[in-house]
Amino acid sequence: MTDTALLNDLTSAVTNAPDATAAMTEVVQMLQARLPYYTWAGIYLLEGDTLVLGPYVGKPSPHTRIPLGRGICGAAATEKATIIVDDVNADPRYLACSIETKSEIVVPIMDGDQVLGELDIDSDRPAAFGADDRALLEAVAAALAARLRASAR
Ligand code: SME
Repeated sequence: MTDTALLNDLTSAVTNAPDATAAMTEVVQMLQARLPYYTWAGIYLLEGDTLVLGPYVGKPSPHTRIPLGRGICGAAATEKATIIVDDVNADPRYLACSIETKSEIVVPIMDGDQVLGELDIDSDRPAAFGADDRALLEAVAAALAARLRASAR
């Protein structure tokens, strides 16, 4: 079952944050604090054809700028769809961030048909992400989209 209390806390944090950057920071911090198997949690924003790393928690990633054609992040933005990878080492698209990472979920943050960015979560557990994670993160992405849209005006 989706964690309704967590989703409520996340959407409240997004709504009440003073600006979009604070909203993104709250989201990644809350996700990692409340879901310990979310080893690394970050948000990339799309600038032209490049995904640029914004707020994150976890080890610094070497991939602070990812072209649309590269990585699982690039694939999710190109396909405009959530991607779950149970075993990152078996996926040729995978760009390694940490050798401990075993699985990953990437959820686009959409404004209609336009990609604003994405939520990227890595886990040290194999096959850590399922339907509940997808539902939670897609709902959070929708809440973030509203804040990012408003701040772009
Ligand atoms: N693994 C991602 C790159 C980002 S790091 O995980 C933070 C990918 O394959 O696109």
